[in-house]
Amino acid sequence: MIRFPPLTVPSFLHPTIEAWVVWLITTFISIPAAFCTMFIDAPYALACNLFAPEPKSIVITGASSGIGASLALTYAKRGVTIGLLGLDSMYEWLVVVRIIRLLYLTYILYNAQQVAEVVRSRRASAEVLVCDVADTDKLAQILEEFDDQHNIDLLFANAGQLGHTIDTDKEWEDHWDRIVDVNFIGAVATAMTGFKLMENRRNRRGGQIAITSSLSGYFFLPQMAYYNATKAALISFGRDLRYIGRPHNIKVTVITPGVIDTRMTADPHQPFSMPRWLLTKPERLAKIIKRRLLYNPATIAYPFTEYLASWVSQSLPTALLDDATWLVGKVSSSLSRTGSRGFS
Ligand SMILES: NC(=O)c1ccc[n+]([C@@H]2O[C@H](COP(=O)([O-])OP(=O)(O)OC[C@H]3O[C@@H](n4cnc5c(N)ncnc54)[C@H](OP(=O)(O)O)[C@@H]3O)[C@@H](O)[C@H]2O)c1
Repeated sequence: MIRFPPLTVPSFLHPTIEAWVVWLITTFISIPAAFCTMFIDAPYALACNLFAPEPKSIVITGASSGIGASLALTYAKRGVTIGLLGLDSMYEWLVVVRIIRLLYLTYILYNAQQVAEVVRSRRASAEVLVCDVADTDKLAQILEEFDDQHNIDLLFANAGQLGHTIDTDKEWEDHWDRIVDVNFIGAVATAMTGFKLMENRRNRRGGQIAITSSLSGYFFLPQMAYYNATKAALISFGRDLRYIGRPHNIKVTVITPGVIDTRMTADPHQPFSMPRWLLTKPERLAKIIKRRLLYNPATIAYPFTEYLASWVSQSLPTALLDDATWLVGKVSSSLSRTGSRGFS
């Protein structure tokens, strides 16, 4: 039997070969594929937007503020029932905090009760579902009860927390546990409970599940390592769930927003605060999501410029990406009060 010697490439050639491979793929596969998509996908998307039925029963986790609240308001219209799930923090009942809230900007201050009132004012039905998504048993029970009454058409696994930057002075479990429980386990539990409910429907009616990940799952500030890791895991999970769901007519989309102007990005403990005028408004993102979900795309990445930046960074040879990551970490660390010491 002929034995071929192992194919080895000298390591100093790796960056050059990577760059050439990316160039070849981009030129001969991605660009032609993008043109084909334009001719096949665009008319399909247009037809779906004109004729596809809109969901009548929707559940949104993390609906008390930001992207979730904007989604609820975007879908709110006569004949639609929306389940708004959030922690619905106790400060709702504290008079002092209520007064402080009045001084704040309104978009930061939604909680599920207030969102429900606005949804009802638009003639839709709203139910507030109070639950910590990390409490998976209670979450399943709440979703099952809602589904019994309303048959969920569209489920958003959207709740998430930013958490902290990596601080080597503290025990890593203190930060990591909660972020994984909420961002990953909570989102997976939401999606899988919905999946099970939709799987058993008669006539393969199925349903739709949208999982909010983040562009940071591809590439972002290295200081947010825990957050980024949970979002990267969600991209992978959602992509695979989409194919598992196909035979059951369950549509799964992963949403990867860039930097959006919400309570999360207003948090002074986040590693890098961008000027607010640079951030995308959650209302704009919610409209894009609603329009695109009608034609069941695998991912919804928005805004395009940030998606492009993360895509380009992924295409860099690894040696260059390594340096770019270091530079991004160093710049953001020097600009923020809470940056990781590892970069300063
Ligand atoms: N803002 C961005 O730039 C950005 C970018 C990419 C991805 N995302 C993702 O988008 C999603 C929504 O974030 P956002 O920007 O809209 O932030 P946000 O305004 O802080 O909203 C987060 C929502 O999640 C809920 N939530 C947090 N922990 C929860 C838990 N354990 N159980 C149930 N609900 C919980 C919050 O409920 P309470 O108000 O009741 O606490 C709130 O409604 C998150 O998954 C986030 O990671 C955001």
